[in-house]
Amino acid sequence: MITVFGSINLDLVVSVPRLPKAGETVSGPDHQSFAGGKGANQALAACRAGAAVKMVGAVGRDAFARPALANLRDAGIDLSDVRELDGATGLALIGIDPSGENQIIVASGTNARVEAGWLDRRLTDADILMLQGEAPYAEILQAMDVARRAGASVFWNPAPVPAGNPASGLEGVNTLVVNESEAAFLAAGLAIAEGPAAFLDNVVSPSRAVVVTLGAEGVVAARGDERFRFASPAVEAVDTTGAGDAFCGALAAALDLGRPFERALREGVAAGALACTVTGAQSSAPMKADIARLADQIA
Ligand code: RIB
Repeated sequence: MITVFGSINLDLVVSVPRLPKAGETVSGPDHQSFAGGKGANQALAACRAGAAVKMVGAVGRDAFARPALANLRDAGIDLSDVRELDGATGLALIGIDPSGENQIIVASGTNARVEAGWLDRRLTDADILMLQGEAPYAEILQAMDVARRAGASVFWNPAPVPAGNPASGLEGVNTLVVNESEAAFLAAGLAIAEGPAAFLDNVVSPSRAVVVTLGAEGVVAARGDERFRFASPAVEAVDTTGAGDAFCGALAAALDLGRPFERALREGVAAGALACTVTGAQSSAPMKADIARLADQIA
């Protein structure tokens, strides 16, 4: 079982001819709304990739709560520990340019008030706890403690990287997934050399695998003394929003299902590539058969 402790948003998406600079207004024709939030996106991606998933988080008492949870509910994800709090559901304002690149502003809303205590007695040593960076850092650290006490495995995708001491977060992590800019940010905080290869070598440990995603270039990873590199298959990208979440969800699902680490990485890369071909973060999360088909082709 995978338990995701993290954010639930509604995404308001506008396609624009180019992303705005500071102080600039750029217009697009229309907007679309999608369920989003890195926690919810990863929960749905893991579920579609074949894992049993529980979501722990919060929505507000507002009109956005229901659409924000609709995909998770339809997929059969356990929402019994999603709380409804006074205040606004998390909201993301997303611009997408013609190449599929995005710019995102998030209003945290009730995601800023999630509590790690909601996880107490809900994890076992067979579980994976998935965490991101959109919950308060103190609660993320406490959630890692709850998982450690239960013997659960901790999967952390610190996106965005929380302000604070990154070393304290890394201590309790069994699988770390970062993109290049998150790796650079963490490397600066940890005073280690820059670059994905140096990051892998310095952060991997006997109890912690490390993955650096490289966008269209694919992924590099380290587990123990092993090093891995997989190129991403070429796809026609229309929207990269949620590609990292699809990668994390598929990777965690494959690990939860007992697949070898190397195969789990291929499935993550396949899911991330497929997610770029459809607009929206959750709408683009691929199904397990499509992931498996593309993963078979990744050398
Ligand atoms: O990773 C993509 C997600 O980031 C979006 O769904 C948006 O809600 C923001 O949290």
